[in-house]
Amino acid sequence: MAIASGRRGALRLSAIRPAARLGPVTEAARARTRMVDALRAAGRIHTPAVEAAFRAVPRHLFLPDVPLEQAYADEAVAVQYTDGVTTSSASQPSMMAIMLEQLGLRPGHRVLEIGAGTGYNAALMARIVGPTGTVVAVDIDEALVAGAEEHLAAADVAGVDLVTADGALGHPAGAPYDRIVLTVGSDDVRPEWIAQLAPGGRLLLPLAVRGSQLSVALDLGPDGLLHSDSVRSCAFIRLRGEGAGRDTIRPVDGWGLALQLPDDGPGADPTRIAAALEEPGEPVPAPVSLGVVDVWDGFGLWLALTEPGACRVLAPDPDTGLPDDLLPLGPSTGTVALATAADRDRAGLAMVVPLAGRGDLRRPGPVAVRPFGPEGAALADALLDALDRWDAAGRPGAPDWRFTIVPDGVDEPGEVPRGHVVTTAHCRVLAALTPG
Ligand SMILES: C[S@@+](CC[C@H](N)C(=O)[O-])C[C@H]1O[C@@H](n2cnc3c(N)ncnc32)[C@H](O)[C@@H]1O
Repeated sequence: MAIASGRRGALRLSAIRPAARLGPVTEAARARTRMVDALRAAGRIHTPAVEAAFRAVPRHLFLPDVPLEQAYADEAVAVQYTDGVTTSSASQPSMMAIMLEQLGLRPGHRVLEIGAGTGYNAALMARIVGPTGTVVAVDIDEALVAGAEEHLAAADVAGVDLVTADGALGHPAGAPYDRIVLTVGSDDVRPEWIAQLAPGGRLLLPLAVRGSQLSVALDLGPDGLLHSDSVRSCAFIRLRGEGAGRDTIRPVDGWGLALQLPDDGPGADPTRIAAALEEPGEPVPAPVSLGVVDVWDGFGLWLALTEPGACRVLAPDPDTGLPDDLLPLGPSTGTVALATAADRDRAGLAMVVPLAGRGDLRRPGPVAVRPFGPEGAALADALLDALDRWDAAGRPGAPDWRFTIVPDGVDEPGEVPRGHVVTTAHCRVLAALTPG
């Protein structure tokens, strides 16, 4: 593995020089103030250290090729494409704030970031851990690391070691770390990351859990288990290299749709599902209201963790030519469904669809369950039941779940709440609802 480690700034008197020394208040500084004020008002930032970091680090210097307005908008900015697919982006400031709050950094912490990208998050973290702390930021892409190096220099940030490497292996040379954070999605909790955590250290990662991606803060216990401290919804680019998971998205030919199948099981056969779609049944109105977020990470996560046939139906191409009522959330997203295709003659699908004439899909509103194929009616009953149970449980979303990670080779103590189990390449993920 090529490692180009560059410790920047031999004099580490402070991680960031005070903004006041960088010159008079500029348009960029005003834009930054507006961005941070908005993040605070929205409750994304709530600790002084995270706020101070956002106020100190000029995001536009990490995005030199985009207009100032875009650099300070609350949106992700793609910075690299490979074959038309985004392979690096500066994450959405809201999401970065949520994760920095989850990470719980303190002055003096040793931190490993996997997914250095533009270097902006590393700069924020360097500001928080201060001159007695260390930030090592790894990216798999040499050109991105070179760019991050320039951005950090332009922003006058010291205290970040940039490394070109596959972060799937962590960075053992700098271990142990008090915090390891991935800013790139993974469908596994790799043993290398756990091994490089200091006792009681925290690993924060966007973890794929059966179609939902969740930002999970995990604390390493003395028993070798990791227990989640907080869980939030997120949407990150996935790991490249050794830790790249298997692709779980399968096209449904002839329909402009795709199935996102569970990462830990075979799932339904898209060819049989394509045939089932030829036989639509009548939508059955559901007893609960749903909006986009409910469908995706509220009910969708619940369904994925409680029903073996759960999957997501995606519409990757906006011009699918589908009837308007087939997908509830707009053609660029999709919906959740139950599917079965174990038997050639008994394939079926039941999916959540909007009730005809429904307006804004982002707000909770009426939905129905629509069956397709010979098994569709039975699946629709099961889906309606699941909706009922989710509603009766208080409509839990991502923050209401907690996860315990049991690495391979570590015993599950009896007192760990079992909940629902997802098996990844190197561990078992035990999911349970937070009591109360
Ligand atoms: C969403 S971007 C990270 C944004 C970054 N933290 C910032 O502040 O700009 C995800 C990054 O993960 C990197 N990445 C993907 N697979 C990786 C791997 N195996 N090891 C290290 N970095 C990886 C990508 O090259 C990309 O730059």
